[in-house]
Amino acid sequence: MTTLANPVKFSTAGSAKGAAQTINPLDLKKIRADFPILAQRVHGRKLVYLDNAATSQKPRAVIDAIVRYYEQDNANIHRGVHALSVRATEAHDGARETVRQFLNAGSTKEIVFVRGATEAINLVAQSYGREHVGAGDEVLITAMEHHSNIVPWQILCEEKCARLKVAPIDDRGQLRLDEFARLIGPRTKIVAVTHVSNALGTVNPLREMIELAHEQGVPVIVDGAQAVPHFAVDVRALDCDFYAFSGHKVYGPTGIGVLYGKAALLDAMPPYQGGGDMISSVTFEKTTYNSLPHKFEAGTPDIAGAIALGAALDYVSELGIDNIAAHERELLDYATEKVGSLPGVRLIGTADERVGALSFVVDSVHPHDLGTILDREGIAIRTGHHCAQPVMDRFGVPATARASFAIYNCREDVDALVNGIRAAREVFA
Ligand SMILES: Cc1ncc(COP(=O)(O)O)c(C=O)c1O
Repeated sequence: MTTLANPVKFSTAGSAKGAAQTINPLDLKKIRADFPILAQRVHGRKLVYLDNAATSQKPRAVIDAIVRYYEQDNANIHRGVHALSVRATEAHDGARETVRQFLNAGSTKEIVFVRGATEAINLVAQSYGREHVGAGDEVLITAMEHHSNIVPWQILCEEKCARLKVAPIDDRGQLRLDEFARLIGPRTKIVAVTHVSNALGTVNPLREMIELAHEQGVPVIVDGAQAVPHFAVDVRALDCDFYAFSGHKVYGPTGIGVLYGKAALLDAMPPYQGGGDMISSVTFEKTTYNSLPHKFEAGTPDIAGAIALGAALDYVSELGIDNIAAHERELLDYATEKVGSLPGVRLIGTADERVGALSFVVDSVHPHDLGTILDREGIAIRTGHHCAQPVMDRFGVPATARASFAIYNCREDVDALVNGIRAAREVFA
C-alpha cells in the first residue's frame, strides 16, 4: 500500500456548495496512483470512473494482498497443522479482527464472512426470519430498498403467509418517519432497512429508526452496502441487531462481504447452510454446531477475499474514513450544483442527507443513450433501475442515470460528466 507520508489534508470548512476543493490535489494524485486501473484510457479518453455504487476500483494494496496470499500462503484454513495453513488461518482471523474494529463490533464472534450484502440479508431472512416470522406476521422494509433487501423478505413472507409492509418515501426521496413509526406494530417481527439508498443517495435516520423499532421489541437488520464505503459506521452506537455490507463496494474484492449480528441473536439462530467447518461433531444421528461465527460459515470460505477485504479496510483507515467522507461530500455538493443546474436535467433524490450517488434524468435523452454517449468519452456511469425498481416507479421513471463517487474522484471528473451531458443533449436536440 502506498503510505501517505503526508496524510491527506482537509479543510473542515469546505463542504459548503461551491467551496474550493477540500482535498489537496497532490494528495489526490497520490491516491489516484494507488488505483492502477485509473491510469488506462477508454476509447482513447482518460477513464472517468463514476460507477462506484455498483463497484469501486481496487487499490494496489488490495491487489497485492491477493497476489501475496496465493504466491506465499495459500492453504485451507482451520484444518491444517502445517505452516502454510497456520499462516492462512492467522491472516483470515486477522481480517476478521480488522472488520470488527472497522465496525466497532464487540467481538469477532459477531463478524460472519459471507459473499456480500445479498447473502448476508438472505442469511438473516432464512435463519432468523424462518424461526420468528409466522402466518399473519409482518416484515417492515422501506420504499427505497435495493432488490436484495426486498426479495429475500418476499420469499420468506410467501413461505410463511406473512405480510411485507413498506414504509413510504416523500417526493425528495426521504423516508416518511411518521409512517415508518406507524407501521411498526404488534405483528412486526423484523425491520429491514437500508442505511443509504443506492438509487437516491438518501441517508436514513437510522438511529431514530432503530430506536422506534426497539421500543416495540423489534430487531433491525441494516443494509449497509452503500454506507460503509462513505462514512464511519459504528454498530454499537447504532445498536442495530444485524448489519450487512459488501467488500467490493469498499475497495475490496468481489465475492466477500460481512454480516454483523449481535452475538446473542446469532447464537440463538439455526445455521443457514450445512457443511464442513460449521460443525463441532457429526454422527448420522446428530450434529452439533460450531461456535460463532463459524456456525454460519459452512465450507471453505473465500480466504483470499477476506484477507484482501482486510487490506481494503486498512487502506480506508489509513486515509481516514472521515477524510474520505469530507472529500466525497464536497464532490457530491459540487456535482449536485453543476448537474442539477443543467437545462433539461431533473435530479431524482434530493434528500437533505445524501452520500455517494447522484441520480438524474435528462429531457429527451434516454438514460441508456446517455450512458452510451458518455462511455465514448471514457466516462463510466450506471443507467437503469439500479436494482431498485420500486424507487423508479415511485418517481415515475423507467430508469435514471447515476453518477457515484469514491475517494479517487475529483472535480475534473464531474466537469467531464457535465460536458458529456451537454453533448448528449445536443445530439438528441
Ligand atoms: C443498497 C444495496 N444493497 C445491497 C446491494 C447488494 O450488494 P451485493 O450485490 O454486493 O450483494 C447493493 C448493490 O448494489 C446495494 O446498493
